[in-house]
Amino acid sequence: DWNAGNVVAEQVERIRAQVGSARVICGLSGGVDSSVAAALVQKAVGDQLTCVFVDHGLLRSGEAEQVEKDFVASTGVNLVVVDARDRFLRALAGHTDPETKRKIIGREFIRVFEDAAREIVAGSDEDVKFLVQGTLYPDVVESGGGEGAANIKSHHNVGGLPDDLQFELVEPLRTLFKDEVRAVGLELGVPEGIVWRQPFPGPGLGIRIIGEVTAERLDVLRAADVIAREELSKAGLDRDIWQCPVVLLADVRSVGVQGDGRTYGHPIVLRPVSSEDAMTADWTRLPYDVLSVISTRITNEVPEVNRVVLDVTSKPPGTIEWE
Ligand code: XMP
Repeated sequence: DWNAGNVVAEQVERIRAQVGSARVICGLSGGVDSSVAAALVQKAVGDQLTCVFVDHGLLRSGEAEQVEKDFVASTGVNLVVVDARDRFLRALAGHTDPETKRKIIGREFIRVFEDAAREIVAGSDEDVKFLVQGTLYPDVVESGGGEGAANIKSHHNVGGLPDDLQFELVEPLRTLFKDEVRAVGLELGVPEGIVWRQPFPGPGLGIRIIGEVTAERLDVLRAADVIAREELSKAGLDRDIWQCPVVLLADVRSVGVQGDGRTYGHPIVLRPVSSEDAMTADWTRLPYDVLSVISTRITNEVPEVNRVVLDVTSKPPGTIEWE
């Protein structure tokens, strides 16, 4: 019988056996998966773990601050924050192909972890040998790692890893689905605010801008995204939807009118989905009045956006994220 307590006990043993007395780093995003993975490893090897939070500039509004507040405050884990915003933007410049963008982001994450690892052990004769990732079973399957599975998209922590990876991976959640990870998180005492957070992909807003990722486009998307999140929360819908990607069609323009003026702006797509495990999903029938408030606010408050559209596609045939 599946039981979160057993999973914790078993994984703690495995982690200890794998890691021994070596130093370990964990890429922490603030989301459920990496937080639960970090909590497991902390339980197993305590202070041998240092978490690394990479601000890649592809985060949503307020996210960087939240990690510090929620996770670090409750666990007391060692945390290093790396400002890698310029580095990611430079690496992504000129790229529009989704898989290319994903692979660039996956590679840059690792390069940042390598730099951080060197700094963590600087001046000692130790080495960081292990990297903890919150990879789940569906991430492995969709990246083509499952038995007979096609590569749908390269999740940043699986198919997006560079070939010359110097770390050995510690992936205690690799056989679990999200609902199981949440149960393990609760068992470990991870704060409920993190355990129930909606999924957000490691590549962040980088795969929600359809087209080239630029600083200006990120600002537009962030402004629209925070409005959608605010209104969904205000309507009490957070636990009813699995997640709601907000997508900027950066290379599409349409004609609009506001006041007496013509506009030629970009569309924002709302992609609310309901799901059990992200392997399949249905589009969420959000109340019209909530959609209406989101649309009005985005078009009033974000000058570059003059149209809001709703994605009514299930998965399959659509995936949850657009890229
Ligand atoms: P798709 O778009 O494949 O998404 O239907 C399934 C779930 O996975 C999330 N997702 C990712 N999570 N790294 C992650 O950590 C990734 O590269 C990645 N790509 C997609 C997505 O938000 C959804 O919950």
